Amino acid sequence: MKVLVTGGGGQLGQSLAKVLVDMGHQAVVCLRGDLDITDGVAVQRMLAAERPDGVIHAGAYTAVDQAEEQPELAYQVNVAGTRNVVLAAEAMGAKVCYVSTDYVFDGKSRHPYTESAVPHPLGVYGGTKLAGEQVVQSFGSRWFVVRTAWVYSSVGKNFVKTMLRLGRQGGMIRVVQDQWGSPTYALDLAEFLVQLLATERYGIYHATNTGVCTWYDFAREIYSLAGFVVTEDIDAESQGEVRAGDDALAPYPSASQGQPSSGRLFSESLSQIKIQPCTTADFPRFAARPAYSVLDNLALRAEGFSPLRPWQEALQQCMEELAQTTEFNWLRFIRKG
Ligand SMILES: NC(=O)c1ccc[n+]([C@@H]2O[C@H](COP(=O)([O-])OP(=O)(O)OC[C@H]3O[C@@H](n4cnc5c(N)ncnc54)[C@H](OP(=O)(O)O)[C@@H]3O)[C@@H](O)[C@H]2O)c1
Repeated sequence: MKVLVTGGGGQLGQSLAKVLVDMGHQAVVCLRGDLDITDGVAVQRMLAAERPDGVIHAGAYTAVDQAEEQPELAYQVNVAGTRNVVLAAEAMGAKVCYVSTDYVFDGKSRHPYTESAVPHPLGVYGGTKLAGEQVVQSFGSRWFVVRTAWVYSSVGKNFVKTMLRLGRQGGMIRVVQDQWGSPTYALDLAEFLVQLLATERYGIYHATNTGVCTWYDFAREIYSLAGFVVTEDIDAESQGEVRAGDDALAPYPSASQGQPSSGRLFSESLSQIKIQPCTTADFPRFAARPAYSVLDNLALRAEGFSPLRPWQEALQQCMEELAQTTEFNWLRFIRKG
């Protein structure tokens, strides 16, 4: 199968590049510099030149908070850009797989959202991704819409890497405990997307790693796997000013560090960290987040695909990958056996 990937430089795009090659497919992975999806003519030219069997549309405007201030730009990329991709794919007879988000839901449910649940986005990012879904369904004839959540990988900006960086800096780390979801490893998601694209089982899917946790639980697991000695500080007042840090523009991190460090290199003496649960209200952001965005992977199971593995197993693999790829060797902190 020949597959064209948009947003090839992102976390998912890079994972798709690896998975496509590993699975023996022909991959045309387009970075934003190769293909700006807001340029309709360029998209048509690219698809006409490559004539792929399918397009995995992973390119998106993903800065959730910034989108509140840049709704036109978010629209240009997530809605008009998606329309460009779908129209060009349709003209070439290619299938389209559009990657969407748990943020199409408001998170007010206390039960996992199935594919037929009624979306109700809370902010601009979720709203434009939902409008992108509608564009795919309106202009495409052979489409998959795959909603996922809490994506991380060993590349790009994400919660796992933010937590490791904050852990290295030491001090008190405050993490949101009242938002629930399913952390999803980009490589696992990429494998599912490629498998799905090879079929004709069109429609809407939810695809996340199995299991549910809060951002706080997720952080605890990251630190446990990395071998930090963690002290829970449930009652302590936050020390210092709460700050979003330079990850504020990353899509989903929900953590802050009470006491910024001097930026010195990680050392054994700093492997003891304090972690404190906090609430969404303690950690104001521009964009509202759904409190409960657990996605029931009902269609995936019903169509006979294997559920993605438990999130803790996937996280372990990502941590092992990080241990081999970052300048700091995390391997010595990875729990063995
Ligand atoms: N990250 C999550 O937790 C999460 C959760 C649910 C759903 N999703 C969805 O999953 C998909 C992949 O997300 P990700 O985590 O891989 O995000 P990402 O790392 O931010 O990657 C998005 C990619 O899209 C590219 N892009 C932005 N504007 C573009 C344009 N005009 N033309 C072409 N490419 C453009 C970006 O390029 P630059 O690098 O040059 O900016 C980036 O490489 C997105 O559709 C996102 O909405 C993500």
